[in-house]
Amino acid sequence: MEVVVLADADEVARVAASRVAAAIRRRRDAVVGLATGSSPLGIYATLARWVAGGELDVRAVTGFALDEYVGLPAEHPQSYASVIRRTVTAPLHLDPARLHVPDGRAADLRAAAEAYERAIRDAGGIDVQILGIGANGHIGFNEPTSSLASRTRVKTLAPRTRADNARFFGSSDEVPTHCLTQGLGTILEARELVLVAQGEAKADAVAAAVEGPLSSMCPASVLQLHPRAGVYVDEAAASRLRLVDYYRHTWAHKPEWQRG
Ligand code: F6R
Repeated sequence: MEVVVLADADEVARVAASRVAAAIRRRRDAVVGLATGSSPLGIYATLARWVAGGELDVRAVTGFALDEYVGLPAEHPQSYASVIRRTVTAPLHLDPARLHVPDGRAADLRAAAEAYERAIRDAGGIDVQILGIGANGHIGFNEPTSSLASRTRVKTLAPRTRADNARFFGSSDEVPTHCLTQGLGTILEARELVLVAQGEAKADAVAAAVEGPLSSMCPASVLQLHPRAGVYVDEAAASRLRLVDYYRHTWAHKPEWQRG
């Protein structure tokens, strides 16, 4: 795992966006896994600037959302379909036909989850998966005790997650209770993982994910099993990492030939 400690949220966005851009430059029709929430917004804004400046071409890119609430109409402003349209598809001028979001309104949610897994497979798998991390260590909506081998399925949101996401709704009561989320096993199959975290509220989760035991109690610790996982954090989110000096040293001395 590569752990990169950066000065602030802008640097996190720039360095993480450059990983995503590199995957798209390697393969014009790359398949990108898209997290929602606050953490990746800087990545999307940075990519959008590069697209606007002609430095990056995303016209052939396919996107797969990580998760979706169950029961929200697709046009609800907080459905992840809407959020991704607003924060990714529109600013990057991504082809809306190439955006996939789990169908949280499906009458048969199990079938919708299976169809989502099939769609990822049919697209050739995810080249680079963007991830945030919950304060409880979740990635996607794989809450603590999620199976490390899980596939896309329905999950019940933890009370902590509903409280954390209340800021996007009127109150935590309005946050849906269930979601469809890619599983940890699904996420592990992406060819590269790019996890970003900013702020002190994420410091415990980041430390547990990076330096704690591999455990379903911290679902993000599953990144330890991935051969190409990068964790990009600001100083505050890095503040509980024991080996922070090592991570700084490694990044400062990373040779150009190792940066691809
Ligand atoms: C959202 C998602 C979640 C968030 C996490 C952090 O698609 O998968 O795992 O990444 O809850 O949320 P923020 O970034 O809002 O702190």
